[in-house]
Amino acid sequence: SVKILYKKHNSNLPKNMVKLLKIEIKERRVCFQPNILWKIMNIILFGAPGAGKGTQAKELIKKYEIPQISTGDILRGAIANKTPLGLEAKKLMDQGQLVSDEIVNGLVEARLQEADCEKGFILDGFPRTVAQAEELDKIMKKIGKEIDKVIALEVSDDEIIERITGRRVSKVTGKIYHIKYNPPVDEKLEDLEQRADDNEETVKKRLAVYNEQTAPVLDFYKKQNKVYEVDGAQGLENITKDIIEILEK
Ligand code: AP5
Ligand code: MG
Repeated sequence: SVKILYKKHNSNLPKNMVKLLKIEIKERRVCFQPNILWKIMNIILFGAPGAGKGTQAKELIKKYEIPQISTGDILRGAIANKTPLGLEAKKLMDQGQLVSDEIVNGLVEARLQEADCEKGFILDGFPRTVAQAEELDKIMKKIGKEIDKVIALEVSDDEIIERITGRRVSKVTGKIYHIKYNPPVDEKLEDLEQRADDNEETVKKRLAVYNEQTAPVLDFYKKQNKVYEVDGAQGLENITKDIIEILEK
């Protein structure tokens, strides 16, 4: 069957790749597109609110051409569209509370089965409770995939408050900025908006929820030897460099 796959999809590959390919197939680490071999990257970007998950995900999707799956973005989309789910989620999000596991698990299960996740994906903001992590393991098993690496961005609480209160997001391009650390160059100031949950009071609540309910998720993945810690207090580019190094190890 390896031969057939090889013939069908990778007949232009040099012969010395065959052996490597066989190993990769055995370990289920490749997916096929005509004449192209991809290393599958199923990644979780983990970190406190404002740790830089969204910012780094945007860099990685450019480089690896895999989608970012941000449960926060999906929920904000539902709020913007005023769907029943959005209206329900808004109350909780504005208070810095988590939306129920059932809701986010369902959203993620559906999203992971879309075609663009074939080469891999970057989960951002999910899983956020141990129950979500357990469910994710079940979902992955069901669809014949597995999480490869969990990149944990580490940033102090003081820095987080500074980052979140200064964050602005473009209504036009969705790009994430910071009024001091990462100001927009090409976009007009009137196109920028502040997230409803980006005030000091809600951030403190979100941090408390993170420490109580989300931080234990890291231990869950440490037991699976999947956690790679990155100093998230560095400049944007150095963080990206560190993450790429980990992903390409
Ligand atoms: P979500 O949208 O996921 O928010 P979050 O986890 O609080 O994380 P943020 O998006 O605030 O931060 P980020 O790490 O993406 O940082 P960013 O790159 O933007 O969730 C929102 C809400 O939705 C939750 O509170 C919950 O209610 C609900 N929800 C979502 N997922 C859920 C789930 N799984 N279960 C239940 N409920 C869920 O960066 C922040 C700022 O810092 C920016 O201004 C950026 O420019 C700046 N910055 C970034 N990196 C650097 C750097 N290296 N140096 C200086 N500045 C930097
Ligand atoms: Mg984010």
